[in-house]
Amino acid sequence: MSNPKLHIESMVLHSGHTPDSQTLSRAVPIYQTSSYVFKDTQHAADLFALRDTSGFIYTRIGNPTTDVLERRLAAIHGGTAAICTASGMSAIFYTVAAITGAGQNIVSGSNLYGGTHVLFENTLKRFGIEVRFVDSSNPAKVEAAIDAKTRMVFTESIGNPKCNVDDIKALADAAHRHQIPFVVDNTVSPPPIFNPFDHGADIAVYSLTKIIGGHGNSIGGAVVEAGGFDWAKAGKFPEITAPDPSYHGLNFWEALCTLEGTPCTAFCVKLRTGLMRDIGAALGPMNSFLILQGLETLPLRATAHCENARKVAAFLEKHPFVKWVNFAGLTSHPDYARSQKYFPMGPSAVFGFGLRGGLEAGKKFIESVKLCSHLANILDARTLVIHPATTTHSQLPPAEQLKAGVEPEMVRISVGIEHADDIIADLGQALKAAHQ
Ligand SMILES: Cc1ncc(COP(=O)(O)O)c(C=O)c1O
Repeated sequence: MSNPKLHIESMVLHSGHTPDSQTLSRAVPIYQTSSYVFKDTQHAADLFALRDTSGFIYTRIGNPTTDVLERRLAAIHGGTAAICTASGMSAIFYTVAAITGAGQNIVSGSNLYGGTHVLFENTLKRFGIEVRFVDSSNPAKVEAAIDAKTRMVFTESIGNPKCNVDDIKALADAAHRHQIPFVVDNTVSPPPIFNPFDHGADIAVYSLTKIIGGHGNSIGGAVVEAGGFDWAKAGKFPEITAPDPSYHGLNFWEALCTLEGTPCTAFCVKLRTGLMRDIGAALGPMNSFLILQGLETLPLRATAHCENARKVAAFLEKHPFVKWVNFAGLTSHPDYARSQKYFPMGPSAVFGFGLRGGLEAGKKFIESVKLCSHLANILDARTLVIHPATTTHSQLPPAEQLKAGVEPEMVRISVGIEHADDIIADLGQALKAAHQ
């Protein structure tokens, strides 16, 4: 799948793809097809029974363009497998639903993207899954919330919009002491910014809509598997380690993880042959292609985003009309030391800042930007701004908003890769306008 000697700059261009023998196309082709012809009945039977995993059956469960994206994502993490989904939200839902059922719970950091918070707080509850929200800056509290019915610990690598950085390794250790996997939503800081598998995470989930796609043109998600988690040890995951009645009695653990020298891909194969088969939030081939175009320049763009974020945060921190800046790359941020440890390139490029003049100044500022775009997305190549209290976090009551770090005067910025001086000039004129 990948040459382990390649650097990430080379993997994003080459891993998972060799020109096919018929066309020799250098770019990854868009396989815009729903289904694939079987060579004969034995070939068909082998594909369905997973005896042959090199072919395709139906695009809901696998597609050659998406397959390259999946292999490339696994390669840049040093993981064993990945599965792409139609959105980041479906990646998160599938990850939880694959191994958690009614009457069970997961323990999650409380500082989450608003959409994930709503899914966890409301939708999962309707299916009998409890989410225990805990301040993830305190690993002891996270561990105390785990009980015999807990099936995973979940958090985000960098909280949005507080820009908090937790002790990722301590959270992984807490989960592993209870033989449950540690899942990280690493949407804002994919490799080369941060690889959660280097710090004990078992599964990484992504919205590919953000910095991986990078150009604001497609929605997508992914689940990446590290491959080292022992699903059998505690007997807590029959979905993976017992015969699956919905898949002719296959035991995914025995079939995919117990052969010496075989990388364990049980979680992703289970997702593909289970929830993806049954519910089908598959990524379309065209979106896979567009996201691959973004992935090919991810290391370059990641460097530019991080450098610009540092410059913009420094400018804002010194500005007289700015009350506070929540960027973990600033020495004033409470998580600065941890951010230096986990994010040597910088803690990505999304953070909040508070304006003097409260809510009204916030609104005026947003209406005055010219180069920056006012929209509900992050980590597009362009610089983006939004007022979370009235938009992304508006479904939360005010007290919950404050808990998530959303104050009325707060603006969230996602610093793009334009020239830093141009971004700073635009922010400067909008700050001035907000104060007039
Ligand atoms: C951290 C994080 N996770 C997940 C999502 C959801 O991703 P999508 O919009 O692709 O469904 C988002 C979207 O903003 C996000 O910021």
